[in-house]
Amino acid sequence: MTRLAARVTGLAGPGTTAAAEAARVARARGGAVLDLRSFGTVSGLPPEHVREAAARAAREPSAGSSNGLPELREAIAAKLSKENGIVADPRDEILVTAGAKEAIYLAMAALLEPGDEVMLHVPNYVFDGAIRLHGGVPVHLETAATDGFALRMDDAERLISPRTRLFVLCNPVNPTGHVPSRQEIEAIGRFAERHDLWLLVDESYERYVFDGRAVCSPGSYADLRSRTITIQSFSKGYSLFAYRLGYLAAPPPVTQACRRLLEWIDIYLGAVPQHAALAALTGPTGWIDEMLAAWQVSRDRFVTGLRAVPELALVTPEGTGFAFIDVTAFRRPSVEVADLLLDGYGVPSVPGSVFHGEGRVRLGFGGTPQVQQQALHALRRALAQHSDEMVRRTGGS
Ligand SMILES: Cc1ncc(COP(=O)(O)O)c(C=O)c1O
Repeated sequence: MTRLAARVTGLAGPGTTAAAEAARVARARGGAVLDLRSFGTVSGLPPEHVREAAARAAREPSAGSSNGLPELREAIAAKLSKENGIVADPRDEILVTAGAKEAIYLAMAALLEPGDEVMLHVPNYVFDGAIRLHGGVPVHLETAATDGFALRMDDAERLISPRTRLFVLCNPVNPTGHVPSRQEIEAIGRFAERHDLWLLVDESYERYVFDGRAVCSPGSYADLRSRTITIQSFSKGYSLFAYRLGYLAAPPPVTQACRRLLEWIDIYLGAVPQHAALAALTGPTGWIDEMLAAWQVSRDRFVTGLRAVPELALVTPEGTGFAFIDVTAFRRPSVEVADLLLDGYGVPSVPGSVFHGEGRVRLGFGGTPQVQQQALHALRRALAQHSDEMVRRTGGS
């Protein structure tokens, strides 16, 4: 009988995509769904010089190579060195991928044997699928709102086992908005060295940090270089989300293994997104500064609005484009809260359960001031209607 492989029959989608799809379907049905995006320029488009580079590449014949464009890898190496203090040789330590997401998948495929344990802090972005698909076993290091979702590496010591092979760090953390401090990064580094672990560091939101903060990259420490895989994304930091491009920087054996895997998946990546990315890296950068300044304003405005609704507690996000709000006042699972916010009030969100953060939902804090105001009003109405309804139904228990 024809059948699917066991590894996919039990595999759920990442949850984040399901939530985005629900919002898309609601819009397509004519529903008024608020646009609370979580990254990119106000228009959602990269600037003219980037789009022009893509258009030029589309007019040229091109033969691709799985190595990616050499000039793009050089520009990425220069960026990593200048902005993140990461030294990576463009010849054999950088791989351009179809988004950060593909880089995560390739790295897991290159590093994991069946039964290997992968430690990751939670709530966290959706890494579980990529871990499980390669036979890995996720081990969760809990973080809590009470200390700003900081990583407590003392707790990590209790979770280590001889099978632990990899520690995954989201830096900054989607969905909590936590930006690990230099001390936290150094504690993670010492932990990785002590237990001889690989460090996979997802820095997709590295540019989205507020109040003068800067991301501290484990890959910038000379002692950690040989065990660190740094992953960054063009979708977020350069508003190139229509182009699906990211990259990893890793020691040569990891990069080579990932490149071989990429050849089996993509053969090579398109010249159009790669030329757009090259223009974004090498062209004028004032637009990026403006975009990030707009995000700081957006975060401040939305968080100030949320602070006026004490039932929806949150830890002020230090980075990313998300507010991870407490929705326990609704007295129902976060999946149901996300459904009712979308269906009844046009507010798109992702249930906290998707990130192993039950009791919360993740909202983007982008959108115009007017849209943000509408979202805040909608949240107040939802709370007034549904927290009361639940109190009535359960007799206040
Ligand atoms: C933390 C994190 N990593 C990776 C990704 C995927 O990035 P990309 O669009 O470059 O594949 C996302 C997307 O939302 C993300 O939030």
